[in-house]
Amino acid sequence: MSSARLAGQELGPAAGHARLAADAAARPWVVKVGGRLCEEPEDRERLARACAALARPLVLVHGGGDAVTRIQALLGMLPRFESGRRVTSDAEMAVVEMVLSGNVNPALVRALRAAGRQAAGVSGADAAMIICRVVPELGRVGVPEHVDPSLLLLLLGAGITPVVSPVSLDAGGRPLNVNADEAAAAIAAELRAERLLLVSDVDGVQVGEATSQDLAAADVEPLIARGTATRGMIPKLRAAARAAAHGVDEVRIGGFNAALDSITGTRVHAPARGASGYSEEVRP
Ligand SMILES: Nc1ncnc2c1ncn2[C@@H]1O[C@H](COP(=O)(O)OP(=O)(O)O)[C@@H](O)[C@H]1O
Ligand SMILES: [Mg+2]
Repeated sequence: MSSARLAGQELGPAAGHARLAADAAARPWVVKVGGRLCEEPEDRERLARACAALARPLVLVHGGGDAVTRIQALLGMLPRFESGRRVTSDAEMAVVEMVLSGNVNPALVRALRAAGRQAAGVSGADAAMIICRVVPELGRVGVPEHVDPSLLLLLLGAGITPVVSPVSLDAGGRPLNVNADEAAAAIAAELRAERLLLVSDVDGVQVGEATSQDLAAADVEPLIARGTATRGMIPKLRAAARAAAHGVDEVRIGGFNAALDSITGTRVHAPARGASGYSEEVRP
């Protein structure tokens, strides 16, 4: 037994892990952070401290589009987007996997560890966690159809916070680029998470001059059709609406707040019950 334990100090990392393991039966929170919020070391540390302070089982999902774009530029590749999703060739898929699973992900794992929360990096491709259907017109892009939560539950049960890169698999086991909001929403629905927080570089969904406080899922398509929500906000809103429709109690889109549990921003509400399976509502 360590001297710290003998001295009666119970708040070391080991005690923290044991407590989180005991809490694992509680419904987790899924927090998705946009790449722009975790690029600079100080931002990453602030985010990690806020996550570490949550006395909840937590799954952290990250994007990293800007980092991918930077490396693409270094390699002479020209990024292309359609409705907020990156068109991804085979060569670009290799870059996406390298950057998201090989660089952004371990940096977040280290930051969480430094903030006192034990974490392990995984991707949607590990243990076949996220299987997608391919969106052929976008290349190696997938939309989550099936989530196997085994690996996440194993980690949560051990008091370890999974940090998830959205790189996932097609039915044949090949890697796919998946929008991180869609990956987070699919995970949150499968885990029946209590909250899904989509933390981005905006205060919430801007409608006209104001940040909307509440949106019904039924408002989402009209906002997109009117051009009020564009680019990355399109998959974000659709993912939020689907998670709300699939048993996640509270879904929010908003900016970073030092206390993630008091995040402001836009709450997206579920439509009437009786929705069909998760994948049936997924759009290309
Ligand atoms: N109505 C809107 N309200 C807020 N942001 C919007 C809206 N329409 C488009 N956006 C854009 O969506 C972006 C957030 O999506 P995205 O760039 O994919 O970030 P993230 O990495 O957090 O997913 C914002 O930076 C903003 O430029
Ligand atoms: Mg995005």
